[in-house]
Amino acid sequence: MGGMHAHVILAAGQGTRMRSRLPKVLHPLLGKPMLLYALEAALALKPERLVVVVGHGGEKVVEALEGYPVEVAWQKEQLGTAHALLQAEGLLRDFPGPFLVTQGDTPLLSPRTLEALLRRVREGAGMALLTAELPDPTGYGRILREGEEVLGNVEEKDAPPEVRAIREVNAGAYAFDGFLFQALKEVRNENAAREYYLPDLVAIYRAHGRRVLAVRGVAEEALGVNTREELARVEGVLLRRLRAEWMGKGVRMILPETIYLEPSVELAPDVTLWPGAVLKGKTRIGEGCEVGPYAVLEDTVLEPGAKANHLTYLGDATVGAKANIGAGTITCNYDGFGKYPTRIGAGAFI
Ligand code: UD1
Ligand code: MG
Repeated sequence: MGGMHAHVILAAGQGTRMRSRLPKVLHPLLGKPMLLYALEAALALKPERLVVVVGHGGEKVVEALEGYPVEVAWQKEQLGTAHALLQAEGLLRDFPGPFLVTQGDTPLLSPRTLEALLRRVREGAGMALLTAELPDPTGYGRILREGEEVLGNVEEKDAPPEVRAIREVNAGAYAFDGFLFQALKEVRNENAAREYYLPDLVAIYRAHGRRVLAVRGVAEEALGVNTREELARVEGVLLRRLRAEWMGKGVRMILPETIYLEPSVELAPDVTLWPGAVLKGKTRIGEGCEVGPYAVLEDTVLEPGAKANHLTYLGDATVGAKANIGAGTITCNYDGFGKYPTRIGAGAFI
């Protein structure tokens, strides 16, 4: 699939339902801000331009974006998702399209799904949006459709009971042709929330005779994060995937559902992880190592055959081959200012 496209990620919202001082899109999933998942999915498609719209807690959000090839647009007042997208117009005015638009609070979207959206527009649709059938559609916009064509989206707040009963929802990922910014100017805020709704573009595109198609995705990818409970659910999905990947590569996990690890961790074949093990940061564990129950390892390297027994904390440590770290051992790596490495030699017995 050739050709260039631009991508806009909406990340200016406050995230009231999280009840947190931290901007919603910066809440960590497996140690990494949720926004970076959306960002990495966007980058996988090599967009010609990539704009992140920031607003609430914007300085912190911009900081988290450091080092990534993105442009930033500011939404000073959070007046809704359509208004947020309109703030990217100044940067993208001369870009002919197509455009991908995603939300910073939808971390499980895959590049493949984004590609499918883009393809619909490249093949002639004016707009394509991702939908999913959810067992519990509460909180999401409901999709009105006829065959492959979408007739409209109704936000839950505005939906009568018969529309609330629809389980096909708007997943918050869209592709648009070059008509986008013109169409955005027609969005009104006459609704329950007094907000400018991005999915109102469905009706506007149709009123201009442009086709709007749905791409039906898998439910998991559509999961958005608006509450702490949804954050935990998405983190659970990411953890399950990560554990399955390492077990596939030869790691033994006892009661895998109790084991926490981050995407930055590396494990060798024949590593054994006991229940409740917590592996964080740049931890690397060598072949045949054993990590005991409720051991916490952070930025720690365990050479082949080493053992860290239960209730151990190892931070910023390197543990030599076949060393045995007895139960309850703690390495002190932080004095409140600096981080200090600990080196434990091969064959040591603590
Ligand atoms: C939105 C969709 C809904 C969809 C759901 C999928 C609208 C009106 N509704 O609802 O149809 O089912 O996502 O997850 O679009 N944001 C801004 N500026 C604003 C408001 C929001 O940048 O003024 C950003 C937020 O940071 C967030 C995204 O837009 O990343 C979505 O906002 P949110 O308030 O979470 O919308 P939902 O209620 O989840
Ligand atoms: Mg949301």
